[in-house]
Amino acid sequence: MSRIFNFSAGPAVLPEEVLARAGDEMLDWRGTGMCVMEMSHRGKEFMSIAAEAEKDLRDLLAVPASYKVLFLQGGATLQFAQIPMNLLAGKGKADYVVTGEWSKKAVKEAQAYCDVHVAASSEDRGFTYAPSSWNVRTDTAYVHYCSNETIGGVEFHEIPKMEKNIPLVADASSHILSRPLDVSKFGLIYAGAQKNIGPAGLTIVLVRDDLLGKAAKGTPSVMDYKLQAAADSMLNTPATYAMYIAGLVFKWLKALGGLPEIEKRNIAKARLLYDYLDQSRFYKNAVEKKDRSRMNVPFTLKDASLDEAFLKGAERLGMVQLKGHRSVGGVRASIYNAMSVEGVKQLVAYMMEFEEKHG
Ligand SMILES: Cc1ncc(COP(=O)(O)O)c(C=O)c1O
Repeated sequence: MSRIFNFSAGPAVLPEEVLARAGDEMLDWRGTGMCVMEMSHRGKEFMSIAAEAEKDLRDLLAVPASYKVLFLQGGATLQFAQIPMNLLAGKGKADYVVTGEWSKKAVKEAQAYCDVHVAASSEDRGFTYAPSSWNVRTDTAYVHYCSNETIGGVEFHEIPKMEKNIPLVADASSHILSRPLDVSKFGLIYAGAQKNIGPAGLTIVLVRDDLLGKAAKGTPSVMDYKLQAAADSMLNTPATYAMYIAGLVFKWLKALGGLPEIEKRNIAKARLLYDYLDQSRFYKNAVEKKDRSRMNVPFTLKDASLDEAFLKGAERLGMVQLKGHRSVGGVRASIYNAMSVEGVKQLVAYMMEFEEKHG
């Protein structure tokens, strides 16, 4: 069996141990004679899988008891609409921080539901930093930001301080579970699963209890956080297999030593790549050093006409999905939890060799 190094931004590499275990359990999950995909979501077997996944996620993130953990569908994109539908609470206004493509999309979607005020933006410098000073309206229903911009590679390394109990809402899709996180600082955190959690099709929402029960009239019931919470995320059939794989990923993380341990590994991997980029005059990462993402590392080559040769050469050596997002071009290495340090070392060695040849 040969596995490649997959630098995709998502759906992304998953831990080999998780895939192997899912393979072992494919035809017969623990003596039931069934694959998890074949189980009723209301049956005791799947109910135990779901309960364990929630417990392990709560343990990993130390989620306070006053928060609900929801396993939903529709991707992070649906949350762009579901958040205003549930959290406006009749206020009609919400504040957004814009640091790149994903927060821009969140704003666009929210504008259909409310008056959106941009509390901070890094557009003045091409979305290359995380603004620290936010101009938040005192009567806003919530403040939304993207804590890791997957395309631009900009990460907030500190949780922004909120005044006057305004709920802070984070799109943490591309760095959730990559480091410890103080959930109590947020009103709501959401993440599409297909990067650090598991397969596409599952979206995780952590929401503080006091924010439930305020959905706008006309909100579809599957999109009402309170109704989903009351039904243990099973108001309708959930993404059962994706939840099972997510549960295996949570167990994998716990066995490694949890989020403090994975953070150490992620810091080491990111350092390898950024240190090399910084001493090179051939490659360039444009993000301010203090705001660089540990998960998504975009960079450009001195001469963009070499991009294709770079990507093809990488692919020949078993390193794939390094092409930058179609909106920005260049190269992007996504180095999520399941990317090994060997993968990053191999990438850096290839970058060195390519630079020597073309620099
Ligand atoms: C930060 C961020 N937010 C939102 C999305 C959209 O997620 P989905 O495709 O699951 O709707 C992505 C997808 O890559 C993302 O990286």
